[in-house]
Amino acid sequence: MKEIKANELKANEFINEQVAEIKDQVGSGLAINALSGGVDSSVVTMLGYRALGDKLLTCFIDNGLMREKESEEVVATFRELGVAVKLIDAQKEFFAALEDVFDPQEKREAITQTFYKKVFGRLVQDSGAKHLLQGTILTDIDETVAGIKRQHNVFAQLGIDPEEAFGYEIIEPLVSLRKDGVRLVAEALGLPEAIYNRQPFPGPALATRVTGSVTREKIELIRKATAITEAALEPFDYFQSMTILHQDRVTGIVNNERRFGHVIQIRCWDSIDARTATPKKLPLEVLFELGRRIPAEIPGVMQVTYNLTAKPPVTMEAI
Ligand code: XMP
Repeated sequence: MKEIKANELKANEFINEQVAEIKDQVGSGLAINALSGGVDSSVVTMLGYRALGDKLLTCFIDNGLMREKESEEVVATFRELGVAVKLIDAQKEFFAALEDVFDPQEKREAITQTFYKKVFGRLVQDSGAKHLLQGTILTDIDETVAGIKRQHNVFAQLGIDPEEAFGYEIIEPLVSLRKDGVRLVAEALGLPEAIYNRQPFPGPALATRVTGSVTREKIELIRKATAITEAALEPFDYFQSMTILHQDRVTGIVNNERRFGHVIQIRCWDSIDARTATPKKLPLEVLFELGRRIPAEIPGVMQVTYNLTAKPPVTMEAI
């Protein structure tokens, strides 16, 4: 795959080329795409919408693993841009697929299979679309091929034929770009700053932030911790922040009673393209305030920690 570096990218030319290519590949048929609200899928949605108009069916699949108010906000933003997004509630299916799955790669696989084979497969069949637009970027491919992490949205490079496996052809307009290039394209497409400067959020969503098995209760807990953390870190400029619920429990004291409770880890990253990253030097007062607030506002949380290790060796997400 030939890389287009952000400093060499001519965003408007790139947009025109990709729009023409999508038109050409899809022809007079229908195409479908899943929008998560992240910058990659948002750019793909706009490229597809420019190329195909109402011949593109854009779906937002609510997998139950999204952040607070995320589904409603993303759908509303795109409706304002003229894109009629279809909201699909698939929470039950995702939680059922994740039940008692502990291994990180198996969790990713359970989500991939539920997404592409079950929920999306059904939508594609019902719609009659033969093409799927997807926001895979070069970093997703690099890491999957290197065997570091099986990304949610990489198939061809793993020798999986999506047409055979899932019944549709995948078009990936962003595979030559990295995140910094995608943001430039997003801005050139006229997407709101809240989108082109939005921090990355992975396809498997909050499930990447729970070690061990994923349950509704754990997701609810990490969703609250994420909302508190994102609000506190709002004034800072960083690549990505996250909170992680580890399996370990620690002893604490609440109202003079001994409790055995959860540990939440905060990670906040400086990075250019997600290939390497370093922990952000956040002011200690901000971290201490999070250390106070999270246990105070989320019952069952006893302790908050901050990640000090760079990528590599740790990856940005916990699974
Ligand atoms: P890691 O944890 O691999 O994360 O260091 C690097 C960047 O990739 C995002 N990420 C994903 N994005 N599907 C995605 O679309 C995935 O399965 C996935 N896993 C990680 C992560 O949030 C970070 O920005």
